[in-house]
Parts: sequence; structure tokens; C-alpha cells
Amino acid sequence: MTDAASTPNRVALVFGGSRGIGAAIAMRLAEDGFRVALTYVSRPDKAEDVAAAIGARGGKALAIRADSADAVEIAAAVDRTVDRFGPLDVAVVNAGVLRLGTVDAVSIEDLDLMLAVNIRGVFCAIQSAASRMRDGGRIVTIGSNTAVRTGTAGGSVYAMTKAAVAALVKGVALDLAPRGITVNNIQPGPTETDMTADMLSRLADMVPLKRVGRPDEIAALASYLAGRQSGYMTGSSLTIDGGYIL
Ligand SMILES: NC(=O)c1ccc[n+]([C@@H]2O[C@H](COP(=O)([O-])OP(=O)(O)OC[C@H]3O[C@@H](n4cnc5c(N)ncnc54)[C@H](OP(=O)(O)O)[C@@H]3O)[C@@H](O)[C@H]2O)c1
Repeated sequence: MTDAASTPNRVALVFGGSRGIGAAIAMRLAEDGFRVALTYVSRPDKAEDVAAAIGARGGKALAIRADSADAVEIAAAVDRTVDRFGPLDVAVVNAGVLRLGTVDAVSIEDLDLMLAVNIRGVFCAIQSAASRMRDGGRIVTIGSNTAVRTGTAGGSVYAMTKAAVAALVKGVALDLAPRGITVNNIQPGPTETDMTADMLSRLADMVPLKRVGRPDEIAALASYLAGRQSGYMTGSSLTIDGGYIL
């Protein structure tokens, strides 16, 4: 039994919990004993599938439409979660977008979308969640190994946004330390999700372990960071990428 599971009725909110890594984290936190709210923007069907799967296993879940590019919708999602389940114990900021393009080709729309969701949305989610979180809570962001590994052509803006998240958690961790709230950042490498569906075989070749990651492997690290035993870790970025090299 995990430490979180030993405390029933704890509450977690996963931003971007309808698919991929976020869905795996929502499922894992429900297994750990959390009541779980999860947001989505474009796939209500997938979000309801995750909520139904949690319910079928005896857990409690709530799917909420909330665009992470919109600060008002983010705050409303936090309020709905607290109204339904009570104050937050954990927030996982997973929602993210990848738009590839070399510097000559990136459109202003793609630039603005990545900045809005991957940076502004992360800050707003942390700010809103922290305001309705119990002291001693946990905030986990999902960055990327692109923040620390060698740059890739076509990936500069995405990597920039994920480097911003790694920098952000260092300062926010200090802001929230007096309340005992920890703030840590998971930096996955290539992981099998819709985001990477068309590049998986190429990516696997770049991983010394010769495979891409599974969402449940990222969720296991999120489970640790969401639990009590991680309480001495804050402001850290943890890379989980099979030793990825170029
Ligand atoms: N897969 C990888 O190899 C990899 C590697 C490193 C880091 N990451 C990061 O891990 C996180 C999850 O990636 P993934 O691979 O699981 O992606 P994914 O399969 O494309 O799923 C993205 C999730 O984020 C949600 N989302 C996207 N934009 C949103 C918005 N504006 N508002 C609210 N929710 C939004 C999606 O909701 P809908 O279903 O409603 O669209 C979905 O639940 C991202 O931050 C990504 O950058 C992924």
C-alpha cells in the first residue's frame, strides 16, 4: 500500500488528464486513494472514459472542461474540484502542447499556443491550485527532457517552454515552502502517447534503453511525488528518459 493510499479522501486535480501521461497519472492517483478531478479541452469522450474507469474501480472522479490557455477556466476548474471533493492535496500540471517547426517556419499562432499552455497555463494552474490547497500539499508539473538534453531542430520553442517550467518550480518551491507545499517537475523523455504517435520508431533509436517510455512509468514517479514520502524534495526537476541522447 502506498502512503497516499493510507489516507483516504485526499483530493488531486490533474490538469490535462484525459489522455496519455495525464490519464495514466489520474488513474494512478485514484489507485493511491485520491479522489481525482481531471481537466480536458478537446476530448470529452476520453475524459469521461478516464472518469468512468476510475469509478469502475471504486474510485471517485470528475471530468471538467477547462482550457489551460485560459486563466479564468483554470481557476474555475480548481473551484469546481474543491466544491465537489474538498481542498486540494495534490495538483498535477500536465496539460501541454507540441508544435514542431524550424525557426523560419514557426507560425505566430503555434508560438502563442505553446507559450499560453506550456508556460502561462502552468503558472496559472499552480497559482490557482495553491490558493485552494491544504498546507503540506504537493504540486507536480510535467516538463520535458528537452529542457536539459541537446537541442533538436524544429523543437526550439517547445524546449524553451519546458525550460521555463524547470526554472519556475525552483522559485515557486521557495514561495510555498513556508506552507510545507512541495513543488517538483517531472521531465519525461519520449513516451508512447498521441503526442508522439508519428515519431515513436525514430525516437526509440535515440534512447540507450532502445524503447520509449510508457505513461504508467511516468505516473509511478508522479505517485511518489504526490505522496508523503517525497516530503523532503522540492524545487527539483527529475528526468525520466531512458538515458536519451542524440
Ligand atoms: N509524450 C512524450 O513523449 C512527452 C515527453 C516529454 C514531455 N511530455 C509532456 O507531457 C505532457 C503530456 O503529454 P502527452 O504525451 O500525454 O500528450 P497528449 O497525449 O497529447 O495529451 C495531452 C493532454 O493534455 C490536454 N491538453 C492539451 N492542451 C490542453 C489545454 N489547452 N487545456 C487543457 N488540457 C489540454 C489534452 O486534453 P484533450 O484530450 O482534451 O485534448 C490531453 O489530456 C505534456 O505537458 C507534454 O509536453 C510528453
